[in-house]
Order: sequence, then structure tokens, then C-alpha cells
Amino acid sequence: MKLLIINGPNLNLLGLREPDIYGKQDYKTLCEMIKKACNGIDYEIFQSNHEGAIVDKIQSAYGKVDGIVINPAAYTHTSVAILDALKAVGIPTVEVHISDINTREEFRKHSFVSYYAEKQIAGHGLQGYIEAIDYLKEKLS
Ligand code: DQA
Repeated sequence: MKLLIINGPNLNLLGLREPDIYGKQDYKTLCEMIKKACNGIDYEIFQSNHEGAIVDKIQSAYGKVDGIVINPAAYTHTSVAILDALKAVGIPTVEVHISDINTREEFRKHSFVSYYAEKQIAGHGLQGYIEAIDYLKEKLS
């Protein structure tokens, strides 16, 4: 089993970025938490600030990856391209948001990715990634 964990723009600045919303733990800490949760299974973590790079990564997962955990960050609310890439490869996907996008500004309430993702986890902080990994591990085993 292989999982791909994708993080969109500005998530590399975790810890520095609006800590009252996204917490004080940095991106390296998130990667370490993911590594621990993926204990025993193959995984890859990918972060990009560029929409096309994320589309390319999703396309390249076809036939190689069994499950995707994605926090598209700001692209959640704008990217039909990321949605279409996920639909094209057909890999089981869980959408994660550190903050609760459903209780913030109006524009954050709409997610393009959720048209495809089988589950959305929002507002559980970094723990949301672990919940998503556990969900896919259980589903795919
Ligand atoms: C986010 C929420 C998005 O609205 C925002 O643009 C992000 C992070 C989250 O993890 O809570 O960059 O996806």
C-alpha cells in the first residue's frame, strides 16, 4: 500500500503563518507526525505552492498510489484543475484542513475538492492528517 500526502500553498510556513489559526507546530513537525502514522506502509509527502505542480503530482500517482491525503490550502476554494486531476486518476482521497473552513469566511466554505474526496476532515489541527491516514489504511487493507 502506498499513500501520497499533498500539501498546497503556504503550508510550508506552518508555525510562522497565522499561528492562532494554524497552530505553532511547523511543517517539519507535521512531516514527522505523518511518518509515524505511516509506520509500516510506503508513503510520500509532497508540498507545492504551484497549482500545476500539484496537478502533475496527482497525475503521476496513477497506477502507483493507493490513497491520497490532500490539503489543497487556498486551491481548495478555486481549483477545478486539482478536482479534475483527482477525478481523472480515480484514487481514493481524503481532504484535510487544519482549520475549520466551514466556520470561517464565506469563501472558505466552498471546496472544489470535496466534489471528489470521499471524506473531509476540517478543524482537527495537524491531527486531521493522522485521522485521514488511519481512515485510508483501514479502507485499503
Ligand atoms: C486550509 C484552509 C484554507 O482556507 C487556507 O487557504 C489554507 C489552509 C487549512 O488547512 O485550514 O491555506 O486548507
